[in-house]
Amino acid sequence: MFKNHKTLVKAIVITAVIVLMAGCSSKSAVIPSSTPSASSAATPTVTPAMTPAASTSTTTPYASASTSPSASGTPANTGKPSSQPNAVSVVANPKEITVLVNKSFRLPDGYKPDPLVDPNVPFIFEGKSEKRMLRKEAADALEKLFTGAKADGISLAGVSAYRSEATQNTLYNNYVKKDGVEAANKYSAKPGTSEHQTGLAIDVSGSTGKCAAEDCFTGTKEANWLVDHAAEYGYIVRYLKGKESITGYQYEPWHIRFVGKDIAKEIMAKGITLEEYLKQAIPVSK
Ligand code: DAL
Ligand code: ZN
Repeated sequence: MFKNHKTLVKAIVITAVIVLMAGCSSKSAVIPSSTPSASSAATPTVTPAMTPAASTSTTTPYASASTSPSASGTPANTGKPSSQPNAVSVVANPKEITVLVNKSFRLPDGYKPDPLVDPNVPFIFEGKSEKRMLRKEAADALEKLFTGAKADGISLAGVSAYRSEATQNTLYNNYVKKDGVEAANKYSAKPGTSEHQTGLAIDVSGSTGKCAAEDCFTGTKEANWLVDHAAEYGYIVRYLKGKESITGYQYEPWHIRFVGKDIAKEIMAKGITLEEYLKQAIPVSK
């Protein structure tokens, strides 16, 4: 088949180059931006796909961001849900009040809302802490919410508001060590995927701090008041009972998220999740 030894060597080299190139392109085509697995969950990887480009389209509303192609063309930068099961895309609009942060959409690596302010409300702990901080819009609304609750005879206290990615990382890893990855994933977000990192969410309890961020908060007068009234101040109860397969988390009557009054009222009146409101409900299996 080959006239001489030289021709044979040439054919082998060309074939090898073609095989290598094909291997590279098919591999890069199937690698999602981030594929957390049970084994990697405790140490999430930061991939090149999480570039600053993802945080530059901050004024684009979610819906239009999800239809705009990114500069790089990678799924992680478009804000689109990836077609890869369990893949996580980087949101294109981290500063939007309606930003969707969940198990499928994460914040850009190192994102920190700025400015963050201290809402003038009581917390269950004393002293200065990043856990008191919220974005201005959320903080103003929270002060009004606490005042409204007080007028109805309900004394609330903050438990935990803003968390940095580093804090969430420590928290999540501690829960994994304590309860195992499967259980932890039902109540704690992997770093980068917690709403607490947006400065738009806060865990709330009664002023005594009893049952703070615990299941026994369910059915308390404070929890009932939040369901009935949080939306009047622009907050939603984010992780609803019966919606675990959409939110990916167990019922958390204490975790409220600022989205603005109009959207909050619609979401709470319909009893739907933010995912359903934004038409981004992807069944969560992890
Ligand atoms: N507990 C919620 C899901 C969080 O960790 O952000
Ligand atoms: Zn929370």
